[in-house]
Amino acid sequence: MEAPAENLGIGRIPILNDGDFARFRGLILKQAGIHLSDHKRHLLVARLARRLHELSLSTFSNYYEYLTADASGAELRNFINRITTNKTSFFREPHHFEFLRERIIPEIRQAGRRELRIWSAGCSTGEEPYSIAIAVREALGTNNGWDVRILASDIDTEVLAKGEAGTYGVELLNEISPERRKANFLRGYGRFEGLVQVRPELRRMIEFRRINFNDHDWAVHGRFDLIFCRNVIIYFDRQLQERIVERLAAHLKPAGYFFSGHSENLYWLADLLTAVQATVYRLKHGGNDQ
Ligand SMILES: C[S@@+](CC[C@H](N)C(=O)[O-])C[C@H]1O[C@@H](n2cnc3c(N)ncnc32)[C@H](O)[C@@H]1O
Repeated sequence: MEAPAENLGIGRIPILNDGDFARFRGLILKQAGIHLSDHKRHLLVARLARRLHELSLSTFSNYYEYLTADASGAELRNFINRITTNKTSFFREPHHFEFLRERIIPEIRQAGRRELRIWSAGCSTGEEPYSIAIAVREALGTNNGWDVRILASDIDTEVLAKGEAGTYGVELLNEISPERRKANFLRGYGRFEGLVQVRPELRRMIEFRRINFNDHDWAVHGRFDLIFCRNVIIYFDRQLQERIVERLAAHLKPAGYFFSGHSENLYWLADLLTAVQATVYRLKHGGNDQ
C-alpha cells in the first residue's frame, strides 16, 4: 500500500500500519524516553520516509528489521536523530539570560568566586549554550580572568555537530541587536556568504557531548552553578520527568539554579526546588550526594 508524499519530494511512500507504529513508538520510548502520542503518527511517517528511500526499503517493517538488526547502534542513533524535535533559537525566553546577567553573576562575584560551571542539558543546535556564553561575557567583559565552562549535551548527534561548528544562517540572528551580532559573530564571505560563525573565544567555553537522559550513567562529574533544561522533558511521561529533574538537581551545587522551559512548571518538585521566578528554580538544600 502506498500514499502520496509529494511534499517530501521522494515519490510515493508506504503506509505506516498500526503494528509498525506501535513498534517504533515502543522503541523510541525505551531508548530515549520520548513518548509519541497518536497524533505524532504523521510526523513519524514524514521523518522516516526519507530514510526508507535512502536505504531503498519498501516498507516500514523492513526498516524496523534493518534498524534492530544493526548491532553497531549507528542506525539507532540515526533513527533517534530523526525523531527528536530540535526547535530552538538564540535568547529564547530572554528573561533567563537577563536573570543570569543581572542577578546570578553579581551574586557569585560578591561571594568572591571567579568560577562558573553551567550545563545546557538538551542543547539542540547550540543556540542555547551560545546565548549563555554571550550573556556571561556581557556580564563579565572580555579578559575577565574567570574560569567559565559550559557543558552542552543532547541525545541527537546531528544537532551536536551543528552546535560544535557554531555556524548559522544569518537570518537566525534577526532578533539580535547589531551590537550583539558584531561582538559575538563573524560574518562569512565568498562561499560562506549568508552564514555567521560564533566567535572562537565563545566556542572555546563550550564542550558539546552526547548524553541520553534515559541512560543509567551520564558520565557527568562535578556540580554546576546553573543547569538549563528547557523544553526537553515535555516529551517524557511524568515519572521520567521527575526522575530526570531529580538526577539533574543532584548535579547542582548547593543553592544552584535550575531553568526550565516556558511550559514546564515544576511545582511537583517543591520539596527539592524553590521557585525564584517563572521557570527559574533554586536548589533548596545541599542536594543529594553523587
Ligand atoms: C525542543 S529542543 C530544546 C532546545 C533548547 N533547550 C531550547 O529550549 O531552545 C529539545 C531537545 O531535547 C533533546 N532530547 C530529547 N530527548 C532527549 C533525551 N532522552 N536525552 C537528551 N536529550 C534529549 C532533543 O534532541 C532536542 O534537541
